[in-house]
Amino acid sequence: MDTALEDRVVLVTGASTGIGAATARAYGQEGARVALTYRNHPEKAEKVASGIEAVGGQALAVRLDLEDLPTIEEAVATVVEAWGGVDVLVANAVRWGGDGPPDPGIRFEDVSLDEWQAMIGANLIGAAAQVRAVLPGMRSRGWGRIVLISSGVAEEGVPGPGPYGTAKSGLHGLARSLAWEAGRDGILVNVVAPGFTLTDSRPPVPQTIVDRLAAGTPTCRLSDADDVAKLVLFLGSGANGNLTGEIVRDGSSAARAPRIGP
Ligand SMILES: NC(=O)c1ccc[n+]([C@@H]2O[C@H](COP(=O)([O-])OP(=O)(O)OC[C@H]3O[C@@H](n4cnc5c(N)ncnc54)[C@H](OP(=O)(O)O)[C@@H]3O)[C@@H](O)[C@H]2O)c1
Repeated sequence: MDTALEDRVVLVTGASTGIGAATARAYGQEGARVALTYRNHPEKAEKVASGIEAVGGQALAVRLDLEDLPTIEEAVATVVEAWGGVDVLVANAVRWGGDGPPDPGIRFEDVSLDEWQAMIGANLIGAAAQVRAVLPGMRSRGWGRIVLISSGVAEEGVPGPGPYGTAKSGLHGLARSLAWEAGRDGILVNVVAPGFTLTDSRPPVPQTIVDRLAAGTPTCRLSDADDVAKLVLFLGSGANGNLTGEIVRDGSSAARAPRIGP
């Protein structure tokens, strides 16, 4: 498959760990110049960047905080200054809230409105801000690929993470509208909605739970970060010729984990 990514500039947000890190590596292997963002863990982002450079790629780690919107434009400006523009955006960074994925045991009415605003502000408006920052350059070059990372929770729901799932579902509407608006400028916009994904950032999941979740999927296995990265890579590359405005689910998205997490 020719991804036509050689020397393209790719921005993967939230790439210090997990799906973002795997995605950054995947783009690096295709010869793209990869800018990757972190929030609290520059050392982890630098390690991902070093790994890309160790195999002959180019990488740049930049700080970006979804809860501090000006840092989004600043991060994009840093990449543009270094490499002249952003050809591909993977909006992957996430504000989980608390110490990790939303607590599936929490009751809807116990989530404060401040938390609603913070979650929507970071995970929906933060994604819109990423798109706004890269669009003018993509339009002027007549080419762009945008992949928004959502979650199976956006459409399937799960007890507990109301604000998280709501913010993610907003990305689906964003992509569908933007696909129409930006398509004439050569920009394709899609959403990847992973299910329960095994990542380096997730606390160890007991094998009994992995097996139970996997049994509920068509492929009898859960995705790992590399599975999702390959999907993102296709959508956000020259190999994707005309697929836009789609919500793409992976095999894991059928795994139902009502009391475990997103
Ligand atoms: N893992 C899953 O099972 C799963 C399932 C469905 C959807 N997803 C989606 O897939 C994406 C990646 O998930 P993941 O599990 O791979 O995540 P992860 O490993 O927890 O990584 C999250 C990334 O986001 C960054 N980040 C955290 N808070 C941030 C903030 N406020 N502003 C900017 N960046 C911030 C982190 O940076 P630092 O570490 O440097 O702070 C890190 O790079 C997310 O959009 C998530 O919603 C994941």
